[in-house]
Amino acid sequence: MRVRFLTTTAAIASGVIVTTVLVQSLSPTSAQTETKSRYLPEYTADGDLILPKNFHEWVYVGSPLTPNALNGGKAGFPEFHNVYIEPGSYEIYKKTYEFPEGTIFFKELQLTLPGENPDGSRTEPSGRGYFPGPWNGADVTVKDSKRYADTGGWGYYNFNHHEPKAPTAKVKAKSECAFCHIASAKKDEVWTQFYPLLDIGMPQIK
Ligand code: HEC
Repeated sequence: MRVRFLTTTAAIASGVIVTTVLVQSLSPTSAQTETKSRYLPEYTADGDLILPKNFHEWVYVGSPLTPNALNGGKAGFPEFHNVYIEPGSYEIYKKTYEFPEGTIFFKELQLTLPGENPDGSRTEPSGRGYFPGPWNGADVTVKDSKRYADTGGWGYYNFNHHEPKAPTAKVKAKSECAFCHIASAKKDEVWTQFYPLLDIGMPQIK
C-alpha cells in the first residue's frame, strides 16, 4: 500500500512535492500526517496563467444557475457555473478555514440542453427543469497575496466563453472582475455563501 502511494505520487508531482510526501510517508505517524500533493498555478514565461490541468478531478463545490428566462431573456452567463477547488488546497482549508496561497478555483460554464418550453426548460423523466449540456469556457481565480496584491490577493482569469478553452490567459483588471467579488463575496473574495462545503458554520465542516 505504501509502495503504491509513493510510486503514484512520484509520477505526477514535481520534485519539491515528492520530497515532502516521501518524508511524510516514511514518518511513523504517516497515517495522520499524509497530505495530498497540490497542483499549484503554472505560468508562461510572459506571466500568463496556464489552463489548470485535471480540474474535472478536483473537489466540486456547487453549480449556480442564472438562466436566460429569469434574466430578461439574456443572462450574461446562462450556463450552469460548475465550481471546483483544487483538492490539496481544500485539504488545508478544511483545517485552517483559510484559503492557502496557491489555491485555485475553476468555474466551468456548462450550457443547458436546448429548451422545449417557453422558459428554456425541458421536460425529462425526472421532471421539468434545466439539464446540463456541452461545456462552454471557464473562469479561474488564483490566490497569491503578493502577485495579486492590487486585487485583494486573488488573480482573475477568463479562458474563453466558448470551447475550446484557451490554453493560457492574461490577468484581468480589477474593474472587470475583482471589484464585484471584493464587494459581495462572503469569504476572502470567494462566494462561500453558495457552497455549503466551504461555508464555515455549516455542519459539514464546523
Ligand atoms: C458583477 C459581479 C461579478 C463580476 C464582475 C465577476 N464575478 Fe465571478 N462570481 C460572481 C458571483 C455572484 C459568483 C458566484 C455565483 C455564480 O457563479 O453565479 C462568482 C463566482 C466566480 C468563480 C467561482 C469561485 C468563487 O469565487 O465563488 C470564479 C472562478 C469567478 N467568479 C471568476 C470571475 C472572473 C474571472 C471574472 C472576470 C472575468 C468575474 N468572476 C467577474 C460575481 C461576479
